[in-house]
Amino acid sequence: MSFINPEITKIPNQDIQHSILELNNVTLSLKREDQIHTEVSGNKFRKLKYNMMAAQDQMITKVLTFGGAYSNHIAATAAAAKELGLQSIGIIRGDELGKDIKKTLAQNETLRFAVENEMQLKFVSREVYRKKTDAIFLESLKQEFGDFYLVPEGGTNDLAVKGCEEILTTTDQDFDVICTAVGTGGTISGIINSAVEHQKVLGFPALKGDFLKEEIEHYSSKTNWELITAYHFGGYGKVKSELIDFINSFKKEQQIQLDPVYTGKMMYGLFDMIKNGYFRKNTRILAIHTGGLQGIAGMNQTLIKKRLPLIEI
Ligand SMILES: Cc1ncc(COP(=O)(O)O)c(C=O)c1O
Repeated sequence: MSFINPEITKIPNQDIQHSILELNNVTLSLKREDQIHTEVSGNKFRKLKYNMMAAQDQMITKVLTFGGAYSNHIAATAAAAKELGLQSIGIIRGDELGKDIKKTLAQNETLRFAVENEMQLKFVSREVYRKKTDAIFLESLKQEFGDFYLVPEGGTNDLAVKGCEEILTTTDQDFDVICTAVGTGGTISGIINSAVEHQKVLGFPALKGDFLKEEIEHYSSKTNWELITAYHFGGYGKVKSELIDFINSFKKEQQIQLDPVYTGKMMYGLFDMIKNGYFRKNTRILAIHTGGLQGIAGMNQTLIKKRLPLIEI
């Protein structure tokens, strides 16, 4: 994966052509962080980079982390650990998934991928999962698995933010506005820290809840940012057919795949704001494609059950 090789982290910005952009006199480029690595894609690469290096420096051979059944972070941690010769353990929300593991793995591409990358999975109830930051619970995991390097749920910590500070480069300083999807707040915090004074950072939360502002303020003291909270589509992992239609049209028009949980919501929101004249004339916008494409298969299974249109891959 070459977390170590700086060349791999020079990611191109792709200019987007669209009549809505022309009509509203703005330009849009997409930073293709989704292309940074085939399996540790987008912000996951950035968030894991210094954490994995820290585990290696501390001579710890196991990493342990937490996630849901379709978590991008679980998939990425498994692949990164395998590539670096580390063992990985995933504490997965939902003990029902552990009752028939064969069936779970047959149905769930994310968890199957994690196991193929030699991640050891432990399924816990939602109640137990809520203790993910509790010192006594973490100690009990040490008793069970031996010493490990802890990567928190979603991968956000100081080292993750440090990694995300490398998303923007000096050549991005010409942009006026930087947009990113927000989950736990780590990615946007890194972007805020490395944005220059004239730039404004817009975060599009993929979930409801007002804890994010505080989380971001924990990692950054700057004020050049704002959360755009109108495009979560009902909450984390929730979708509506208009979002799926948007993702499918974007793919057709731009040949760029977006995911339904994060980047699709961000891009839908951004286009909606552009249409509504939110940005002044000649604004140069850079949106970050933070990856997450591995989750599409799982979402399509849910969409079949809900009789909604599927995401075209
Ligand atoms: C594809 C994708 N984009 C954006 C985010 C949001 O990142 P953060 O949790 O650092 O806010 C996530 C979640 O980590 C993600 O998986």
